[in-house]
Amino acid sequence: MRLEDTLNKILIVDFGSQFTQLIARKIREFGIYCEIISHKSIEKRKNFDKNIKGIVLSGGPLNVYENKKVKFNNNLLKLEIPVLGICFGHQIISKVMGGKVKSSNFREFGLAEVTEIKKSKLTKNFFSKKKNNVWMSHADQVTKLPKNFNIIAKSKNSKMCIIENKKRNIFGIQFHPEVSHTNKGKTILRNFIFSICKLNRNWSASDQKKKLINEVRDIVGNSKVICALSGGVDSSVVAKLLSNAIGKKLTCIFVNTGLLRKGEEKQVVNTFKKRFKINLIYVNAENIFLSKLKNISNPEKKRKIIGNLFIKIFEKYAKKIKKVKFLAQGTLYPDLIESKSVTGSQTSKIKSHHNVGGLPKKMNLKLVEPLKYLFKDEVRKLGLELGLNKEIISRHPFPGPGLAIRMPGNISIEKIKILKEADNYFIKSLKDNNLYDKIWQAYAALLPVKTVGVMGDNRTYEYICLLRAITSEDGMTADFFQFNKIFMRSVSNQIINNIRGINRVVYDITSKPPSTIELE
Ligand code: XMP
Repeated sequence: MRLEDTLNKILIVDFGSQFTQLIARKIREFGIYCEIISHKSIEKRKNFDKNIKGIVLSGGPLNVYENKKVKFNNNLLKLEIPVLGICFGHQIISKVMGGKVKSSNFREFGLAEVTEIKKSKLTKNFFSKKKNNVWMSHADQVTKLPKNFNIIAKSKNSKMCIIENKKRNIFGIQFHPEVSHTNKGKTILRNFIFSICKLNRNWSASDQKKKLINEVRDIVGNSKVICALSGGVDSSVVAKLLSNAIGKKLTCIFVNTGLLRKGEEKQVVNTFKKRFKINLIYVNAENIFLSKLKNISNPEKKRKIIGNLFIKIFEKYAKKIKKVKFLAQGTLYPDLIESKSVTGSQTSKIKSHHNVGGLPKKMNLKLVEPLKYLFKDEVRKLGLELGLNKEIISRHPFPGPGLAIRMPGNISIEKIKILKEADNYFIKSLKDNNLYDKIWQAYAALLPVKTVGVMGDNRTYEYICLLRAITSEDGMTADFFQFNKIFMRSVSNQIINNIRGINRVVYDITSKPPSTIELE
């Protein structure tokens, strides 16, 4: 029997929200085991696992009054366990329990203020002076309270913003407690899990490790696996996880695309081949990547070219190893959510992250992506649990397409050389000033614009280097990091004095959204 089958858990019913995995991650953070299930797959289910001690109904892009596609399974309510409906979940629970939901004249997107009307176990310690700021994303609202429900809180455009059926422990909230923008959103989830569902902690990074190792063994069986190792946190964790799970059946392949950070190739070979004694094949593919990317400036094209080339190279080496059936990748949940919804089609596509969107259709290898439901910080914890050292674990994320997407416009050897140096100076300065670990991701980019400068008595006409440094929890939202002037001046001086080809340094002061972390 699997470990997970023995644990009490929260069941998250997914209606297609881009935040469903965030709900799961917040629940895991409390040390509670949870499972996500698509609403479609349980439409007619009669029997549910006895270990389910609470149900969360996610948000979603559908609406409850027009769309006949959503058939809510009333058997969920017959289980008589606590239910928490969030956004769409709030609306559907209101509808099936006798309330009404209508399209609202005033939509609420972004921050909104909610006011407490009545005390509830769910909102204990949530309000301060009966107010709180929450994050809303809805165009519909509950207009008639379902039977035996009370209103716990209201907002300007949602009069029944938090509701409860106290006797049956059923709750609905219009806003999203799972996103970091909702002030004290975790308090609501904590109250639901511990005071209402009465669960005890039963899930840790060590359990996560065991679960993933077992899953990898189940999927892979006796076959051989190759792992796309980049040296970044994600692929390093995948490589170590697989090596723990299947030992020598794993071969890592490290492709030098020519688009890596300065000195990265040496570092990777030293760490994984020498230190961890993992089978590692080093492929120097600089020339082929650069020739295929010649004159390509469209970001999506760059991604697809790089993704396809990666896979071709893996397939080539897989054939040499023989009997390889699987390719392991360090895809994380945010990579998936921004390319395509896990449950279907609902979330809109923002970028094709190369290890998701760029896969050729006729791939001869099956994928193993053991981290695909985890967030970055969870992967770091897992890495430490697997015995990887802090230096690898705390590395800033680096995108698969590498420097190609930090160089808007055409790619050239000259630009790559300049960019590698600039990035190296910036990162080294961050480390020297103890700033590296305070920043979630930082990098230098080279803009395809030359501007005029003056050095000595001479006119220069060179590239602009853009620096980006952001703070974030999970890469899904981000804010720019505030440096002091002394640091900024020192970095700018170092870059301009040491690198021929750059005569101007600018700092990116946009958050995500509206920008993304990478430039392309
Ligand atoms: P964006 O730019 O989408 O980045 O805000 C979010 C996080 O994802 C990384 N990223 C990628 N990682 N392949 C990857 O493996 C990609 O194509 C890719 N694009 C962005 C980015 O560095 C940031 O950490």
